[in-house]
Amino acid sequence: MKTQFFGKDFINCNDWNKDELETAIDVAFDLKKKFALNEQTLYLLHKTLFLLFFFSSTRTRTSFEAAMDHLGGSSHDLPSDKLQIAHGDTAKEIGKILSSYGHGLAIRHCDWKEGNQYINEVAKHSSVPVFNMQCDVYHPFQAMADLMTVFEKKGQNLKGKKIVMSWAYAKSYTKPISVPQSFILLLSLFGADLVLAHPKEFELMPEIVKETKQNSKFYGGSFKTTNNMEEAFKDADVVYPKSWGPLVLTADPAECTKITSKYKSWICDVKKMKLAKKDAIYMHCLPADRGVEVTDEVIDGPQSVVYDQAENRMHVQKAILALTMGGK
Ligand code: CP
Repeated sequence: MKTQFFGKDFINCNDWNKDELETAIDVAFDLKKKFALNEQTLYLLHKTLFLLFFFSSTRTRTSFEAAMDHLGGSSHDLPSDKLQIAHGDTAKEIGKILSSYGHGLAIRHCDWKEGNQYINEVAKHSSVPVFNMQCDVYHPFQAMADLMTVFEKKGQNLKGKKIVMSWAYAKSYTKPISVPQSFILLLSLFGADLVLAHPKEFELMPEIVKETKQNSKFYGGSFKTTNNMEEAFKDADVVYPKSWGPLVLTADPAECTKITSKYKSWICDVKKMKLAKKDAIYMHCLPADRGVEVTDEVIDGPQSVVYDQAENRMHVQKAILALTMGGK
């Protein structure tokens, strides 16, 4: 267990080593238990967290706000169009000024080729920890909540467990690639047999895939890719089918729609779930395109753990905020 976290950013999944991530998960379990028992957890009394959103959010916004309430501090929701960013406030100014008013700065900025760069630029100039609430490359708090959920449902020894991150069809909007990237990167540290499934146009970033491969080998797991959803689901312990855009290939909206529309058969339905193990769990970070990405029968069925994932967002965030803004 690690104890030195004060002032650390949490931006890229690989900013923290495995020991540090395991400590955060331990603390999250402890905070979840204390929340169930209605015990006070005032680790961030009178501390201030700013939440800067360039993109909409339900879970991230409300779970960060609730987390700060339970830790005794306050949070301030800052939609980017309410600040003077469009009129010239730079990432440097945001970092320097907001960090002079508070104790933490969390940002969601999902624009392709912009988000991660922006968050890192703010962090360079911030005197307080900066947290990534989702960018174009990573969604680290979602991945931590997903890992916590897998541990709860499948135990903490993931050796021999087949865990599938699969693309699925959706039509609501071009979803970022940050969830699948963070998920495979994080899970690759825990010795699972990981499978990444997607149509050929939906590759993830090559450096992320390479790192996942290296981690899987180092930690005694395996990593395979396939263009076949059914093959991926066969005998799986965990399936996580969700949509993402063909962004590595093209970010042109018309091209994205055209490519995506070829793969309507990539839906998670009961027939596909039957290929997985009987006790397999179905995961999704939400929001999901119901009837398109997944059927109601699956997402509302007994194998679905989507509400556990959503709840665990709050517990892992409380852990990381308490360790970095209030710890040693
Ligand atoms: N899963 C997730 O990040 O949800 P929101 O986009 O609603 O925050």
